[in-house]
Amino acid sequence: DSVGYGVATGKIILMGEHAVVYGEPAIALPFPAVRINAKVEKIAQSIVELDCYFYQGPLTEAPQQLTNLITAIKESLAVLQQPQQGFKLSITSTVPAERGMGSSAAVAVATIRALFSYFKQPLADSVLLELTNQAEKIAHGNPSGLDAAMTSGSVPLYYVKNQPFAPISLNLKAYLIVADTGITGQTKKAVADVAALLESHPQEIGDKIVTLGNLVKQSKHAIEENNPVLLGGYMNQAQQILVDLTVSSPEIDLLVAAANQAGALGAKLTGGGRGGCLVALATTKSAAEQIEAALIEAGATITWIYQIGEK
Ligand code: MEV
Repeated sequence: DSVGYGVATGKIILMGEHAVVYGEPAIALPFPAVRINAKVEKIAQSIVELDCYFYQGPLTEAPQQLTNLITAIKESLAVLQQPQQGFKLSITSTVPAERGMGSSAAVAVATIRALFSYFKQPLADSVLLELTNQAEKIAHGNPSGLDAAMTSGSVPLYYVKNQPFAPISLNLKAYLIVADTGITGQTKKAVADVAALLESHPQEIGDKIVTLGNLVKQSKHAIEENNPVLLGGYMNQAQQILVDLTVSSPEIDLLVAAANQAGALGAKLTGGGRGGCLVALATTKSAAEQIEAALIEAGATITWIYQIGEK
């Protein structure tokens, strides 16, 4: 009998998280160092059985927190016009969960791909994106669509909500050092808190969001000019604004300071914040390794070094 497979990568937001929800641009890249794998296979019972790293059991008894996955499955089956059930969906992951790397969107992408592959139907990019966005709306409430775009795609984007995708070539000779605080981030809560802040202080917070957007635009130029020093400076400025927006955390602040002390050109949180991961910038491999060592010393639980601009 047929088996369907689907894979999705994590993502890193280089600049622009949170402001992107309000129509400002963001720069993000797929992060293939971490992946979600999904497999669909036939079983004897006519149910959907889940065997996932976060839950094992029938779909009908899956906990409420899995509504994004449940939505991805149900909406896919509706599009596939395959109401009949009788398969097992297995999901494994190397994307740390709830760390701002897009794990929820990546779970949806891998699942949708595996279901279409199992039912031997072609999956248009636009359909994959639409289904993933539906699942993300359930997971996040008010997503910008960036996570869905990044985890279903394969190229870095200069992303603006509700606009056609604009690929950006990261022809910058630099290294990203990514580190996990080990603390679960809270994207949904952080996004809701920024919305509440904006409502209570429209002028002040509105200005900060616009400033963040301007830093993203300037970062695009810094990348085009292959100027990592400038980009690093913008990353530090963005981190300060994210602190002001209350979406950083003591653990992130500590790691950001450690990265900068170890010679990073810039360092900031990546993703929703309130825990999760940070990203730092360096121009040489040895500098990147030095920063990585400092981050581990300061308590990072997992680290990655990623060379950008690598052909
Ligand atoms: C989460 O990865 C990025 C946020 O900007 C939320 C969103 O874009 O939906 C915090």
